[in-house]
Amino acid sequence: MFFVVKKRAKHACPQISCKASVKSGNATSNFVGFVAMKLKRMIVGLGERSYPIWIGGGILSRLPEALQEANFPNKVAIVTNPVVQSLYGEAVAESLAAAGYEHHFIVLPDGEEHKTWATLQTIFDGLIARGFDRHCGLIAVGGGVTGDMGGFAAATFLRGIPYVQVPTTLLAQVDSSIGGKTAINHTQGKNLIGAFYQPRHVHIDVETLNSLDSREFAAGMAEVIKYGIIRDKDFFDWLLKHRKALQERQTEALISAVKKACQIKANIVEIDEKEDALRAILNLGHTFGHAIENLSGYSTFRHGEAVAVGMMVAAHISHHLELCSTDDVAAIRNLLQAFDLPVTPPQYPLDAYLDAMKRDKKVQKGTLRLVLNKGIGDCLVQEITDPAILFAEALKGIQHQDQVD
Ligand SMILES: NC(=O)c1ccc[n+]([C@@H]2O[C@H](COP(=O)([O-])OP(=O)(O)OC[C@H]3O[C@@H](n4cnc5c(N)ncnc54)[C@H](O)[C@@H]3O)[C@@H](O)[C@H]2O)c1
Ligand SMILES: [Zn+2]
Repeated sequence: MFFVVKKRAKHACPQISCKASVKSGNATSNFVGFVAMKLKRMIVGLGERSYPIWIGGGILSRLPEALQEANFPNKVAIVTNPVVQSLYGEAVAESLAAAGYEHHFIVLPDGEEHKTWATLQTIFDGLIARGFDRHCGLIAVGGGVTGDMGGFAAATFLRGIPYVQVPTTLLAQVDSSIGGKTAINHTQGKNLIGAFYQPRHVHIDVETLNSLDSREFAAGMAEVIKYGIIRDKDFFDWLLKHRKALQERQTEALISAVKKACQIKANIVEIDEKEDALRAILNLGHTFGHAIENLSGYSTFRHGEAVAVGMMVAAHISHHLELCSTDDVAAIRNLLQAFDLPVTPPQYPLDAYLDAMKRDKKVQKGTLRLVLNKGIGDCLVQEITDPAILFAEALKGIQHQDQVD
């Protein structure tokens, strides 16, 4: 469906002008090396909804300590799925029991197709059957699907009970567990029903990533790379330099990368909790990525893979608009490929892509707004008045680059 190519581009395209609407600032950064300790803490600063994120290696056993610091209730539901329960359920349950927490497992079926109202109902059933009240809490242990559903259940059960995220996929650790977006899918679209509801604590043990298959890990890396492109050139460069350590899942490298990604996401969420403006920059590569997922039926491409291709398309458009250089486009391509991510869109007709993008829920009043990289490490959101020309040029640019390589 896509071609893996290795070399860099030497291609220039004409400019088409569009109107800029939101611009991000460039995050200050001194990202130079590994962290020395095995536990890093940070705070997502949202006033009375602020919460800590702990990031470390082998820290699942320290969950009770974090719960105590967060004043978390003593009776907790562990919401997870069979895969994650068999890997980490016992470790979590044992540490909670040893610290005197009353815990109950609620195990959901695995998979995006189960991120539904029916599955949500089983969480409520489990909570009610076990006598949960407002003085109880929920701990979501798993990937983004578990976190989104557990979070939404917590947001709505008894008008809201406290919850904690224990993300176990790379995507969940750097993206879905932070920022308080919770949701389930509707037959008419993904994440259509949900709430903004912040957790009390996010507990990230990067060693849980050791059991993740390599494709799932790469898909998570697409979101990590995204942070470098939109906010932090040093981090972008660091990722290439530490590719081997990251792909070998070395704990220190993972802690450094996940912490930086969390910091960038937290900074954006702190400024714009409910996606009025700035938070939209987190959608780099997502408009085109969602179109790929939509056209390919959500099973061929992992979300992160589709986003990787989407970021490549965005980079080409940025280049057409003279927002970045050919070298920047080549560097983005190079980094994505270094992490085994696709960079070439599957061959659907341009019209099919344009229609799918028009259907995207982020399209406001029929106007397509794209996140575009400004060089590497900065970005802006731009209204696209003539998407047909722009995307045609971008797809041509990618095709040309594939042929050159
Ligand atoms: N709330 C947000 O802000 C936000 C942001 C991005 C994505 N999301 C949502 O996140 C979801 C995708 O999350 P995901 O990519 O984590 O998918 P996922 O939760 O389906 O997890 C992927 C697979 O990995 C398995 N798994 C989880 N942890 C594992 C581990 N440590 N070792 C081995 N296998 C493990 C899961 O059981 C699953 O089969 C989507 O539903 C998306 O809408 C939400
Ligand atoms: Zn994403």
